[in-house]
Amino acid sequence: MRILVVGLGSMGRRRLRNLTHLGGHDLAGLELLDARREEVGREAGIPVFGSLEEAFGWEPDALVISTPPDQHAPYALAAAERGLHFFTEASVVTTGMEEVIEAARGKDIVTAPSCTMRFHPACAKLRALIAGGAIGKPLTFTHHVGQWLPDWHPWEDYRTFYVAKRETGAAREIVPFELNWLTQLFGPVTELNAFVDVARGDTPSPCTVADALEAFRTAEACARSMATGSPVDLASIPTVRADLSVRT
Ligand SMILES: NC(=O)c1ccc[n+]([C@@H]2O[C@H](COP(=O)([O-])OP(=O)(O)OC[C@H]3O[C@@H](n4cnc5c(N)ncnc54)[C@H](O)[C@@H]3O)[C@@H](O)[C@H]2O)c1
Repeated sequence: MRILVVGLGSMGRRRLRNLTHLGGHDLAGLELLDARREEVGREAGIPVFGSLEEAFGWEPDALVISTPPDQHAPYALAAAERGLHFFTEASVVTTGMEEVIEAARGKDIVTAPSCTMRFHPACAKLRALIAGGAIGKPLTFTHHVGQWLPDWHPWEDYRTFYVAKRETGAAREIVPFELNWLTQLFGPVTELNAFVDVARGDTPSPCTVADALEAFRTAEACARSMATGSPVDLASIPTVRADLSVRT
């Protein structure tokens, strides 16, 4: 198959390495930055192009779209309209996706959005264990995700690429990445609580000490449930009373 990798940055190069490792395909690249295009072309020993028109002249069968998130849809649409298969990095920007779906409808092509975590062996194992009833009915789950943005692209200032743009920011990217596999395990999100304004210092925290003590009751119920292996009724946990006066 003739595969055109679009966007030769961090992921585009990784996709090229993956495809080279799989073997058996003719590869080419498309990149707007002259220096990067030439460097990758040299390194990978593949034809590289600076525009889609030129790249279509190479007659690809499929596109691998590894551009920044707000640049996926135009390439996905161009592929779908021409009846070419495409894989795209996870598209956290939905603008233009309706048109892509419409253009692909009824065509005999594979249109594959990236779902990295769904296919991770650890996540597949968790799915199998939970579906097999290994831990009974999951009642509570705590998942903490944090990222250090300067590590994402150590070769450039993180404030200069897509993770720092409001429409394509890092949280916008990572939260759906995680929800992708978490919702497979535990079902769809039904309620959301966020503390963005509090974290920014724009709003005083809505949580009182009483809320915090109530959270301890929930944690105690979880701990007892884990220790006994059976559900615990929150009402059975005594209410914590505290002297909230400030001592000086
Ligand atoms: N699956 C994963 O684990 C994973 C990890 C990191 C990033 N990603 C995804 O991969 C995509 C790319 O991320 P990255 O870290 O490689 O970014 P990057 O900035 O390193 O690479 C993007 C490349 O696309 C080029 N580009 C920009 N606009 C273009 C256009 N219109 N046409 C052609 N090329 C264009 C840029 O010049 C750059 O070389 C993002 O959608 C991101 O969400 C996925």
